[in-house]
Amino acid sequence: MTASRGKFSSRFGFIMAAAGSAVGLGNIWGFPTQAASNGGGAFLLVYLVLAFCLAYPALMAELIIGRHAHANAVEALRSVSRGPISRFSGGVTGIVGLIVASFILSFYAIVSGWMMAFCVSSILVLSGFETIAAWFVESSLPRNVFFMGLFMLITVVIISQGVKNGIEYWSRRLMPLLIVTLLLLVVYVLSLEGAGQGLELYLLPDFSRITSPSLIISALGSAFFSLSLGVGTMLIYGSYISDEENLPIVGGYVTLVDISVAVLAGFLIIPAMFVAQHNGIEIFTETGALISEDTLIFTVLPALFQSMGFTGVVVSLVFFFLMSIAAVTSSISMLEVPVAYAIENHQVSRNKAVWAIGGLITCVSTAILYDFETLFGLVVELTTRYSQPLLGFMMCIFAGWVWQRDNLLQELQKGNPSAEAGLFWAIWPWYTRIVCPLIIATIFYTSLAA
Ligand code: PHE
Repeated sequence: MTASRGKFSSRFGFIMAAAGSAVGLGNIWGFPTQAASNGGGAFLLVYLVLAFCLAYPALMAELIIGRHAHANAVEALRSVSRGPISRFSGGVTGIVGLIVASFILSFYAIVSGWMMAFCVSSILVLSGFETIAAWFVESSLPRNVFFMGLFMLITVVIISQGVKNGIEYWSRRLMPLLIVTLLLLVVYVLSLEGAGQGLELYLLPDFSRITSPSLIISALGSAFFSLSLGVGTMLIYGSYISDEENLPIVGGYVTLVDISVAVLAGFLIIPAMFVAQHNGIEIFTETGALISEDTLIFTVLPALFQSMGFTGVVVSLVFFFLMSIAAVTSSISMLEVPVAYAIENHQVSRNKAVWAIGGLITCVSTAILYDFETLFGLVVELTTRYSQPLLGFMMCIFAGWVWQRDNLLQELQKGNPSAEAGLFWAIWPWYTRIVCPLIIATIFYTSLAA
């Protein structure tokens, strides 16, 4: 099985692919909008603490198990198990992970489709087709189904090309483009009038909100979603890394890129809201809370762009292009999870697996679009708020309790012979064994009880 498996060709290739998976709508849309509606700086602070102290160790658990097994999540979790019960739970965790990854993709493709529709609309306005352009920004079932389908098609085509020629090839090109585009937009928005008020909200924490259970569970979900944890994505990417790599270091880079992009996106979205307010656009709801989530991205920002005339159309094009790139480099990593399982455990060809699973997910997305009001929020909530932290908890249990310490050390020593003397080995094993599961469980319990 190992000989025919894909592999990233270099460290840079892996970092771009894994950071590409991590950096997505969660960073550029989810994080800033949640921060905006959860006290700005307070959310930022809790997010940063959770990302470094919980998400990074959980990411390492996935990368190490994946690289050790050089197999998909189901196989990998089974292979580190020692008895029948842990083998069975490993298999179940892997299967649940791939189902959750597929459901995440089913709603992700819908939102990404909207991003693409807005991008196309700006291109049409720039080319003088304003009347047609209007159709692309108005929500309708045909538009939503079409763009969701188009987005899924792009994802399927990239994944059908495999690890090196598909995932790595595109991530290496799209990720640097994404970072440069984001930086340009941040610089531009910060130069506009009204941005300062947004900066204030973003950077000055309202400490009274820091202990709010709903803020903490949102920040936890956000951190886990943002680093693509729990569902086996990072595990499968880890399984494609060469044995010579020093895992804690490459995992650290991935975390840093992911968090930096989220924080940077905050510098774009939150100030942009206040620029919009300065331009006369309503950014507060009747209850006095900041407008958030989809209303923000699909109403406030387009209104802001419109108030900026021609420049606004260009900025809108760049912004939605950025969103679409971020979405593709993440969606491919979601699809790879069930595809790798089908290829390795059911001996299906990559092409067949990709088209069949991609087709199935497209059907689920279409069903969600048909009953959007009921299904969309439900799928988002069940997958990201509950399943991901719980699956992340299981990954920590596998790395900390099920797998033997000696094997863990051997795996780390492959890329760093002196790993035993290092700081990572001094902290991470007991931390992942005790602290991570305890904190995840506590936050989870508190949020359910609240
Ligand atoms: N990390 C991605 C984002 O921030 C989402 C994702 C979740 C990707 C789970 C893969 C698996 O948008």
